[in-house]
Amino acid sequence: MKTLQADEERLYRAAAEVMARAYAPYSRFRVGAALLAADGRIYTGCNVENAAYPSGMCAERGAVAAAVAQGARQFRMLAIATDAAEPTPPCGFCRQVLVEFSPALAVVSVGRDGAVRRFSLSELLPHAFTPASLSAGKPVRS
Ligand code: THU
Repeated sequence: MKTLQADEERLYRAAAEVMARAYAPYSRFRVGAALLAADGRIYTGCNVENAAYPSGMCAERGAVAAAVAQGARQFRMLAIATDAAEPTPPCGFCRQVLVEFSPALAVVSVGRDGAVRRFSLSELLPHAFTPASLSAGKPVRS
């Protein structure tokens, strides 16, 4: 894929591979996510839906959970693969989960025909509530 840089391409391939294992019988919208951690390793996730619809899990949060479980907490880049014609950004819930670990994350999303969109997480989630927000202006305990 010519439009992707080498590091993006490697990450996208991992996202596309895991997308094939998505469990999405209800929406039929398969998503694959791959996170490049600061240690150079790649962690992946796919969406896992459920008959009780709200119990489903997004691909991006699956990738974060896999990474954290393996000890990785800093991420450089996220690649998203879907079957959609238009490359999709991560949902709001996933943006919030990602910003906890990597506010400056680069996001590259690729659609089914190879269209590419790039985002920064700070652009997708401006004025985010972060761990620092918890301590800012915290009242002194009496
Ligand atoms: N989905 C993701 O996995 N990531 C997103 O960022 C957007 C939505 C999933 C959830 C659900 O399984 C399906 O895509 C349709 O919303």
